[in-house]
Amino acid sequence: MHIAVTTRPVQPEDEALFHRLWPRLSRETVHRRFHAPVRTLPAGTVRYLVTVDHDLREALVAVVGGEVVGVARYDRPVADPSTAEVAVLVEDAWQGVGLGRQLVAELTSLAARRGVRTVTATVQPDNRPVLGLVRRLLPGSTVTPDDDVLVVTSRLDPEPVSEPPAPDSPLTTASP
Ligand SMILES: CC(C)(COP(=O)(O)OP(=O)(O)OC[C@H]1O[C@@H](n2cnc3c(N)ncnc32)[C@H](O)[C@@H]1OP(=O)(O)O)[C@@H](O)C(=O)NCCC(=O)NCCS
Repeated sequence: MHIAVTTRPVQPEDEALFHRLWPRLSRETVHRRFHAPVRTLPAGTVRYLVTVDHDLREALVAVVGGEVVGVARYDRPVADPSTAEVAVLVEDAWQGVGLGRQLVAELTSLAARRGVRTVTATVQPDNRPVLGLVRRLLPGSTVTPDDDVLVVTSRLDPEPVSEPPAPDSPLTTASP
């Protein structure tokens, strides 16, 4: 069975979809994304996550059947917008079918077009899926231990400036 997946930039109207996504995430997925046993997602945090300026802060969502099943985001500091911290999450039922890779590829491409030259991500040392993803997608990345996590640092090549992908552009087809 093939199911259509689309990706698009996040929008404030996604607040309800984020609230619905939260209970579908396992504790392990939440811990790997936030590096802490986050139990509840305050409304203010969700509002912050879905409200981005599409420049210094960006988030792309993967949507299946009207539900958000994955999110990749970057944050660039005002003081140095050539750098960005990246984070990604795919809900458990949809992991392993290529959505994480697709979201990170689109996000880093968008970041490169906006002038980002270095991206960093904080990952746990036993997080094989994300380390595999980085190895394949961003070869040449360096991995530096920092207390009990790893900081992955990747250089992005400049890309020609062009329009961002159209909202709801077809991504791929997959099934969980
Ligand atoms: C990390 C994460 C985003 C990957 O997304 P995904 O959609 O499951 O991954 P993909 O299907 O795109 O696969 C990406 C790579 O991980 C590998 N992978 C996927 N699931 C795996 C698993 N259970 N064990 C080992 N490797 C796995 C794939 O083989 C692929 O590697 P390749 O490119 O070398 O073939 C997802 O597992 C997740 O949300 N994890 C919890 C949050 C997290 O760890 N975030 C990262 C820190 S911010």
